[in-house]
Amino acid sequence: MSDKQKGYFITFEGADGSGKTTQISKLSNYLTNNNTKNIQTRDPGGTELGSSLRQILLHYPNYISPNCELFLYLADRSQHVDEKILPALKEGNIVLCDRFIDSSLAYQGYGRGIDLNQIIELNKIATRGLIPDLTILLDIDTDTAANRIAREKDRFESEAQEFHKKVRQGYLEVAKSDPSRFVIINANQSIEDIFTQLISVLKEKQVI
Ligand code: TYD
Repeated sequence: MSDKQKGYFITFEGADGSGKTTQISKLSNYLTNNNTKNIQTRDPGGTELGSSLRQILLHYPNYISPNCELFLYLADRSQHVDEKILPALKEGNIVLCDRFIDSSLAYQGYGRGIDLNQIIELNKIATRGLIPDLTILLDIDTDTAANRIAREKDRFESEAQEFHKKVRQGYLEVAKSDPSRFVIINANQSIEDIFTQLISVLKEKQVI
């Protein structure tokens, strides 16, 4: 198992366009203003090596096989856990991570069709068994999410709506299988309403 000691590990999951990044930076500001040590990071791309992998994963112009895609995410995650997440947890930070293991289950598992148990086992190797203390799933309907992505689309955002529906369903299944770790927040609401709910979840769980 992991050798995480003092910190608290929160991951944010959900479709592209669900507003994870906005909520993470609002929460990071809130924590900092309340003198709570925290870091913001993201998967893929939380390290320097990860930035290069992220560039390939999101913008490589030719075909990437589903297995290769999975292994690239796992490679990124492995470096991220060792270089950044575990050290930050050991220093007592609340680590706020934009996507983690559940993105692989939703996108590569439910979206691309790779066996879920294989993904779970490979994730264990990549993360040394590190599991988030809390995972916030920002659940949004597929059409609203698509409308929110106005800029140029990356490899995933360009996938058909059918793919995104499978990803959303996948997330809900994964959340159902681990209710003590997951909290689902309806991300069709306004930024402020989502944030209010997020803060009350953290208070309820005595994280803050
Ligand atoms: P994200 O950082 O949310 O992209 P953006 O900055 O464009 O909002 O996520 C990158 C993409 O990678 C996203 O479409 C989901 C995908 N992804 C996977 O398919 N599997 C994974 O394991 C992870 C972490 C992300």
